Amino acid sequence: MNTIIITGGAGFIGSHVVRLFVNKYPDYRIINLDKLTYAGNLANLKDIEDKPNYKFVKMDICDFESVMKLMQEEAVTGIIHLAAESHVDRSIKDPFTFARTNVMGTLSLLQAAKLYWESLPERFEGKRFYHISTDEVYGALEMTHPEGIEPPFTTVASSGDHHLAYGEKFFTEDLKYQPHSPYSAAKASSDHFVRAYHDTYGLPTIVTNCSNNYGPYQFPEKLIPLFINNIRHRKPLPVYGKGENVRDWLFVEDHARAIDLIFHEGKVAETYNIGGFNEWKNIDIIKVLIQTVDRALGRVKLETSKTGETVETYPDMDLITYVTDRAGHDLRYAIDSRKLQRELGWEPSLQFEEGIERTVRWYLDNQEWMDNVTSGDYQRYYEGMYANR
Ligand SMILES: NC(=O)c1ccc[n+]([C@@H]2O[C@H](COP(=O)([O-])OP(=O)(O)OC[C@H]3O[C@@H](n4cnc5c(N)ncnc54)[C@H](O)[C@@H]3O)[C@@H](O)[C@H]2O)c1
Repeated sequence: MNTIIITGGAGFIGSHVVRLFVNKYPDYRIINLDKLTYAGNLANLKDIEDKPNYKFVKMDICDFESVMKLMQEEAVTGIIHLAAESHVDRSIKDPFTFARTNVMGTLSLLQAAKLYWESLPERFEGKRFYHISTDEVYGALEMTHPEGIEPPFTTVASSGDHHLAYGEKFFTEDLKYQPHSPYSAAKASSDHFVRAYHDTYGLPTIVTNCSNNYGPYQFPEKLIPLFINNIRHRKPLPVYGKGENVRDWLFVEDHARAIDLIFHEGKVAETYNIGGFNEWKNIDIIKVLIQTVDRALGRVKLETSKTGETVETYPDMDLITYVTDRAGHDLRYAIDSRKLQRELGWEPSLQFEEGIERTVRWYLDNQEWMDNVTSGDYQRYYEGMYANR
């Protein structure tokens, strides 16, 4: 019997991973361990919360004693660790919380896994500690080609209209860590602890570093859901600097699929980079969002150009407002995920245009979810749902 703790399962990516595992593996027991910080929202998992192979446990990963007890009581065989403080802007204001959760929390899980599994006759046999990390640990890449060049690789997920790289270098698994923000420094530190537990104690660990995710259920402090909501309500769209920063975007369900594959087939002690082969400047992605939302809401205007052609115009382009750049804002992230492609056969499945269309549609169709999050009402969901369980 596989009993897996997924930490951070009521957050954005974690909820997709929990949903995938609960639905795909009815014979596994899936324990969603989450403290429910501001970023945790159990409404993200409404559709699976009554499944017999699913259990939610409200717990802080830093609470070593409780984690240890849970592992023993539930005879846990695997951990997929996503719980973290994840927002760079918050890390700049409050680095201590990031060190506590991302570093000490990861250490507490590692130590509990080590002690519990070592106490079993089979020890680490058949066990897995899978740590989910970010590409931000590698620092920033140079933007040697601000106009974009033909990228050296392509997949079905790459954008059809816009398929560019903004430099020759990419993040590969052997690159030196050079984190710049308190968030990425804390994640980098946690990655080092995970690898140290393998090297020192033989704990069967795996680390993956993924690029920016987008899709349903993302907390609307992050660019894509925040901007979709602002466009809908015709609120200003604050763009850092000139909007030139480049990120590599991956649809969240493709990340969840990669996690499933790597958890089952990845090699112990390996690192895999996960990315979308899909680089975008922030300003370009914001324009795509405006076009997609305006189209969905019937706001597009048809005008006649000087040459007599009919052209579409998007009134909400006016909402773009340039603001002072984020301190230490990394210029370019771009993942080379060919190792994962080569060794385990993973590729993103969804073309970017389709992923963005689905994402915009989801946020527009789920205004109630958005209102609950923006009003803070989602924090009462736990009491309503779980108080008497
Ligand atoms: N979002 C991205 O684009 C991205 C990209 C690469 C990697 N990651 C990594 O993936 C993981 C998940 O990211 P996300 O965007 O889904 O984050 P999120 O902020 O949406 O969710 C984080 C979850 O962790 C929980 N949590 C926080 N502190 C906790 C604690 N002390 N104990 C227990 N639970 C706690 C929160 O309640 C929340 O449910 C993180 O480790 C992040 O570093 C994210």
